[in-house]
Amino acid sequence: MSDPRPTSSATASGPRGLPLIGSTLSFARDPLALLESNAEYGDVVRYEAFGRDLVAFYDPDHVEQVLVSRSDEFWRGEFEHEFSDVIDVEGVLFAEGEEWKRQRLMLQSAFTPDQIRSYADAMVEETVRAIDGWTDGEVVDLEEELSALTLTVLARSLFDLELDEDRGARVRRWVHAMSEYTAREVFGAGALVPGWVPSRTARRFEHATADVRSLVEQLVAERRASGADGDDLLTLLSTGEYPDGTRPSSDEIGDQLMTFLLAGHETTATALTYACWLLAGDDESRERLESELEIVCGDRDPTMADLPELAVTEAIGREAMRLYPPLPFLHREPHEETSIGGYRISPGTTVQLPMYAIHRDERWWDDPDEFRPDRWLEGEGADLPLVADPDDRPEYAYFPFGGGPRHCIGMRFAMTELQLTLATLARRVDLERVTDSIETDVGITLDPGLVEMRVRTK
Ligand code: HEM
Repeated sequence: MSDPRPTSSATASGPRGLPLIGSTLSFARDPLALLESNAEYGDVVRYEAFGRDLVAFYDPDHVEQVLVSRSDEFWRGEFEHEFSDVIDVEGVLFAEGEEWKRQRLMLQSAFTPDQIRSYADAMVEETVRAIDGWTDGEVVDLEEELSALTLTVLARSLFDLELDEDRGARVRRWVHAMSEYTAREVFGAGALVPGWVPSRTARRFEHATADVRSLVEQLVAERRASGADGDDLLTLLSTGEYPDGTRPSSDEIGDQLMTFLLAGHETTATALTYACWLLAGDDESRERLESELEIVCGDRDPTMADLPELAVTEAIGREAMRLYPPLPFLHREPHEETSIGGYRISPGTTVQLPMYAIHRDERWWDDPDEFRPDRWLEGEGADLPLVADPDDRPEYAYFPFGGGPRHCIGMRFAMTELQLTLATLARRVDLERVTDSIETDVGITLDPGLVEMRVRTK
């Protein structure tokens, strides 16, 4: 669907913002509202924030060009790399060019369909274990519970590791500190304060980072000492080689493990939290889900083999990520001057793909702000195949996992976990809303804040 390479250089309009700081303040106050209001200027919007020139693309065909068909013209860019420096995480998420390719090839072996299949039991068992820790009528902090759960699953499946409570808490403290730091100092009001001004949030984050670095070093040393030769990611990194025969350095191993600890659990926990909260407010979808589970699973927990038949479960996960994509925007930068849709973009300009706003664009979605899992389903009754691309919607009107060569390496892992965890939860408990409305904040993911839910065992 890519258009012929345009030669013109039309000028995009956008909000003028304030002198010197552009739209930084609007972004800091409410980034999601800014992404949505910017769309009023058209499909290509120029603005300034954080001392940068940004150009945001709202047309799914332009998103496709940047991420997929012309992805070789773009890199993650200065904005993302500065973020990587600030959060002190490198690894495959931020690597570029040949280095990225080398890392991605090595890591991919932990995400084959067979490997994902072998992780499914851990996903269900750990969900059951979490539920067994709840009592009827108890009010839980859902995001906290689900992030502990997804971290345990990640460690057990990808790293073949039972993270004890203390170690798990250290990783979660780090992720929380990073999220708070990102929300306040990177995308929040702190962005207007010079970086050298000390803050308590920054100090807390620094300590937590040092602590997790030392934990990761310990994990690698323990795995090496054990002489293990499994095919999990921790063993692969601790003892394995790149396809070219070289071995990752200690720093690279540490960075890679931190990348997966970060990218591999908070994202899925965020998606699950929104899915459970949205479901609790929608009787009809809950009934549909229950009837699907009764037909497919009967009186047992779900298994990997059930997934193709759990269409309603999958639709609920997808719809939750449409309304609340865990990563609400992506960024790129052109290597050289180029143009997309007739608009010239030079190196140094940050290309923004405002996923949150595109997922709610009424050109592609009826009732865009409504939670309607049935938009992903075809037909009525028990046999409900999932529709990959309903209507004539462009493919990149929905891209929670990105696209092209740098699409999420954990996509299959995450979708499997989303479906199995949702189905296991829904079979065993009802979750009732205690928190009535969600206050989203942009941290390292689209943070739902405190979401309290009352557990009713079935
Ligand atoms: C619902 C859960 C998840 C969502 C919504 C999500 C979303 C994304 C997105 C949008 C990207 C692309 C970023 C870009 O192009 O700029 C990405 C990349 C990535 N994700 Fe995920 N992710 C999820 C779960 C996971 C899991 C479970 C893992 C690992 C176990 C993971 C590991 C990664 C890594 C390593 C990358 C970087 C890939 C590369 O640059 O080659 N993610 N994710």
